[in-house]
Amino acid sequence: MNTPSEKALVPFVSVDNMMRLIHHIGVEQMLRDLADYIEDDFKRWELFDKTPRVASHSDVGVIELMPTSDGEAYGFKYVNGHPKNTAEGLQTVTAFGLLADVYTGYPVLLTEMTILTALRTAATSAMVAKHLAPKGSDTMAMIGNGAQSEFQSLAMKAILGLKTVRLYDKDRAASEKCAANLAGSGLETVICASPEEAIEGAQILTTCTADKQCATILTDNMVGSGVHINAIGGDCPGKTELAKGILERSDVFVEFPPQTRVEGEIQQMDDDFAVTELWQVILGQKDGRTSDRQITLFDSVGFAIEDFSALRYVRDKVRDTEFHYDLDLLADPDDPRDLFGMLQRAG
Ligand SMILES: NC(=O)c1ccc[n+]([C@@H]2O[C@H](COP(=O)([O-])OP(=O)(O)OC[C@H]3O[C@@H](n4cnc5c(N)ncnc54)[C@H](O)[C@@H]3O)[C@@H](O)[C@H]2O)c1
Repeated sequence: MNTPSEKALVPFVSVDNMMRLIHHIGVEQMLRDLADYIEDDFKRWELFDKTPRVASHSDVGVIELMPTSDGEAYGFKYVNGHPKNTAEGLQTVTAFGLLADVYTGYPVLLTEMTILTALRTAATSAMVAKHLAPKGSDTMAMIGNGAQSEFQSLAMKAILGLKTVRLYDKDRAASEKCAANLAGSGLETVICASPEEAIEGAQILTTCTADKQCATILTDNMVGSGVHINAIGGDCPGKTELAKGILERSDVFVEFPPQTRVEGEIQQMDDDFAVTELWQVILGQKDGRTSDRQITLFDSVGFAIEDFSALRYVRDKVRDTEFHYDLDLLADPDDPRDLFGMLQRAG
């Protein structure tokens, strides 16, 4: 067997190591750290290469590639979305990602991103809510209590000081799972029998359901003035969660308009429907929340820069630790032009 050289090796973070890393840092601390990395990259928005993700749709789901670069590092994520999967014992969303050095083109990190995506999605939601939600928000309705729901709840606690989560899922077992997982977290959980009950007294309404269709999780008459809506589950063509009337009454904030207009809640609206880009709010160039009566809506679809931030964070955290191992991923012939010779000598 040939011993690979240093140049052949790429740090790899397995699911097991990711879980150990998260426990080592602490879930809430990691959510705060990720929110800081994502906010920093939103502040550098203009220098990134940006493209809507490349999506391959089928009747049952979608497989997507999400690339971006800041000129020094390049990152991409592979991610799927298959709402029918949980009934077959599989995840709706799985992901892995890679970070590379732009100067050499060599990968510098390969990592699981199923868990990391849940963390980065929640960290993004809470970072955005920090800018848009009513000051002093302490209660959130969490509609859709699947894989993302605990992460969403804990990020709002860690970053906004949320105290109470009102849970609703069409499958009560999902709400019971979520409440059990959050027991001991310091969050009060209330399992509700309807979405109407879940939004009672909540300043933040999070929709995080999975269904491969245009659903109406929130109807227009359910949403009163002054709330912040964190709409996570509508993230594909033909997959939305909010009644159109809510969008007409809200100020809508998005990550990257060319992607959100195809995938987000605003796919229901005309192409010139007014939206505000979040990076401009974060930089103070555009207004966020300006009144107590305003409905702010984060039409989240998930953008490549959030994954890039998460990859940067993991690279920084696993450096010089035992939370990764080296993969023999890159062929490294003694003479860079003698790839065939390397193959022949291995025979
Ligand atoms: N915006 C983003 O960045 C981002 C990131 C990750 C996931 N997502 C999306 O978030 C959604 C949730 O992901 P997940 O991994 O938690 O999925 P999941 O399948 O684990 O959970 C979804 C939950 O929604 C519930 N549900 C479905 N229809 C409902 C309805 N009409 N009313 C109430 N509950 C309903 C299901 O019973 C299930 O418990 C997916 O649509 C996914 O594509 C978005």
